Amino acid sequence: MSTNLISPHTLGGEPARASYLPYGRQSVDDSDIEAVVEVLRSEWLTTGPKVAEFEEAFAARVNAAYAVSFSSGTAALHAAAFAAGLKAGDEAITTPLTFAATANCILYQGATPVFADVSRDTLNLAPEQIERRISAKTRAILPVDYAGHPADLEAILEIAQRHGLTVIEDACHALGAEYHGERVGSIADMTVFSFHPVKHITTGEGGMVTTNRSSLAETLRRFRNHGISSEARQRQAADDWRYEMVLLGFNYRLPDIACALGMEQLKRLDANLARRREIAAHYTSAFREMPAVIPPAVRPEADPAWHLYPIRLDLERLTADREQIFRALRAENIGVSVHYIPVHYHPYYRDRFGSRAGEFPVAEGAYGRLISLPMFHGMTGQDVEDVIGAITKVLLCFTRGESSCQPGDS
Ligand SMILES: Cc1ncc(COP(=O)(O)O)c(C=O)c1O
Repeated sequence: MSTNLISPHTLGGEPARASYLPYGRQSVDDSDIEAVVEVLRSEWLTTGPKVAEFEEAFAARVNAAYAVSFSSGTAALHAAAFAAGLKAGDEAITTPLTFAATANCILYQGATPVFADVSRDTLNLAPEQIERRISAKTRAILPVDYAGHPADLEAILEIAQRHGLTVIEDACHALGAEYHGERVGSIADMTVFSFHPVKHITTGEGGMVTTNRSSLAETLRRFRNHGISSEARQRQAADDWRYEMVLLGFNYRLPDIACALGMEQLKRLDANLARRREIAAHYTSAFREMPAVIPPAVRPEADPAWHLYPIRLDLERLTADREQIFRALRAENIGVSVHYIPVHYHPYYRDRFGSRAGEFPVAEGAYGRLISLPMFHGMTGQDVEDVIGAITKVLLCFTRGESSCQPGDS
């Protein structure tokens, strides 16, 4: 990730920074390392005391009654789709502007993902578009808290209640976000989190489902353990060798080694969130002076967790398209990215469902303008200034009627 990318230098002159700044990066400190080493020296490497400890602390942090850990956010989504009872013949509604895993978990259960377009401001699933896509086969809605901004949960839960649907909130971007003063993780039927290294806390790979319903928590626990109704440690404590497999599950367990890391990381969640919010505020205030940049919208009821900071380019004001701006920023050693290629554009979805461009104008229109700027809690003040400096340099160059440079010269 730390390669130096001073290659063909689009705008000429010195790049905004000498070394490559990625869009996301984990922070691991000595207390994390010590906690992992302690587990490595202990009796239990997997599904020991650290799993319950991490789950309880996590549930308390998001104000949920139960938290069930998984080997990844994707495994957690699969389990939630199973616990919601999704099966062949069913449909579930989700957003096209997400990572493929959100829609894939519907397919894992043999059900069909039905996409609905997003709102213009937040790029989150639009409630009126959900209504349009509901059929007699709909069983669930999977909103995504895009970039860490909570979805329109009040309206979505109301629709779900009216139609008897389960809401699985994909909050892989939104650990620590709040909605109407309530914590994400305590609001939907099930809420799914990811602990991938670019997220707010990491366990290497890992995920969690939170819920307030004990029956769902029990199904989730069984699903991640082959469908077995007890855990090895419980059997050891009870001096019993018998176990019963009661449903078809998987091995989706998050080991004690990872849970020990998660426990330490969780202690720093508030500090990580505070830093991300500070960086977002800094970016937003800098971009107020740049009309070609549309910063991410924040609704009054939301306190986002800022997993990403995706800007939209006002292409009408620019002489370049997103691809050229992206290349120019990369040449400045700024590790920008794009979130997301709409899921229905992927060849698998196109081939299987015959999906085509033009079906979801808001999501597709946004996709052509989106660029995610570096956003992680370990960013220094200088990193943030470098990003703002590079954006200023590149956009000044490509602003219609005001171009201050000769792209390609060096
Ligand atoms: C919106 C969304 N959903 C699901 C996932 C899958 O999580 P994981 O990488 O932990 O499997 C991600 C991961 O990046 C994500 O961004």
